[in-house]
Amino acid sequence: MTDVTLKINGETRSAAVPPETTLLKMLRENFNLTGAKLGCDVGDCGACTVIVDGMSVNSCLMLAAQLEGREVLTIEGLATPDRLHPIQKSFEDCASLQCGFCGPGVIMSSKALLDANPNPSVAEIRDALAGNLCRCTGYTKMIEAVQESAKAMRGRKSERVA
Ligand code: FES
Ligand code: FES
Repeated sequence: MTDVTLKINGETRSAAVPPETTLLKMLRENFNLTGAKLGCDVGDCGACTVIVDGMSVNSCLMLAAQLEGREVLTIEGLATPDRLHPIQKSFEDCASLQCGFCGPGVIMSSKALLDANPNPSVAEIRDALAGNLCRCTGYTKMIEAVQESAKAMRGRKSERVA
């Protein structure tokens, strides 16, 4: 077994896992964080997307052992008990998702994009979501939701500065 200690959604967590355990499996089975989904298991669908040290990653492709000392953000870390994260709120308001399977991954890719680039172009949004497969929405409403999220997050920042 390999011991791993990392930060997940701001909390220090530890687990002892077999060395071949992926980050996705550890999140779901050791920590009961089931927002990230197992779709293809080979890096093609993006359903397992989480953020590691600020970068969106396919958690099915990372080994848990690679996470020692690192920081992971999952979909469970976005909302507070009384408030959705602005990205979640925009996806809800724009009716951008039809299922909960691709949704967490799409939202985490959007978060990584907006953290790095608060005012992305449509091309940049498309590029950021290119690894997240959805077979039903056609992406237009997702792009709209990311644009709305960007506005809401910029608004929140200027409120804090004022
Ligand atoms: S389950 Fe990880 S990319 Fe599909
Ligand atoms: S909305 Fe989830 S696969 Fe299309």
